[in-house]
Amino acid sequence: MEPFRYHVFVCDQQKPEGVPCCTARGAGQVLEALRREVNVRGLEDEVQVTTCGSLGLCENGPNLVVYPEGIWYSGVTPADVPEIVRSHFQEGTLAERLVRTDPAVLRAEILTNRFVWSGGRAGETPEDQDIRRYRPCVSVSLDLSQNPGYQWGLREQAIEIAPVR
Ligand code: FES
Repeated sequence: MEPFRYHVFVCDQQKPEGVPCCTARGAGQVLEALRREVNVRGLEDEVQVTTCGSLGLCENGPNLVVYPEGIWYSGVTPADVPEIVRSHFQEGTLAERLVRTDPAVLRAEILTNRFVWSGGRAGETPEDQDIRRYRPCVSVSLDLSQNPGYQWGLREQAIEIAPVR
């Protein structure tokens, strides 16, 4: 059962500085424009707007997904919002220009990002990731500040060998 004609999920995920995310790419302004446009067109009882966490397309944000159809829009700007609201929510025609049309490509992008963010590296398979994670290795550190003789030379060195986790 769908209580609204359309339910729009807008990603407003914020990530650390330098990491691509919808917030850094203007999701807040898109959200504001969307809420305003929905109200201006009197669609507030037909279109429910909800923020959500990452949809997995962070490099291409701001992203939003519309149900019940499951239509994904990427790279949305505030200037695009009137077109989406008028075309999709009022006239029932997709704003084709911004729609992600290939579900296989969409899925692959999301799954790749999910894998990379879970600790994998681009191009790795899950098996590669396991090998890299559990490969035995050691780290060596020198702690000279604890050496009372460090001002006169490296007469003693503290060497610690520990497995890297
Ligand atoms: S931060 Fe929006 S899709 Fe990932």
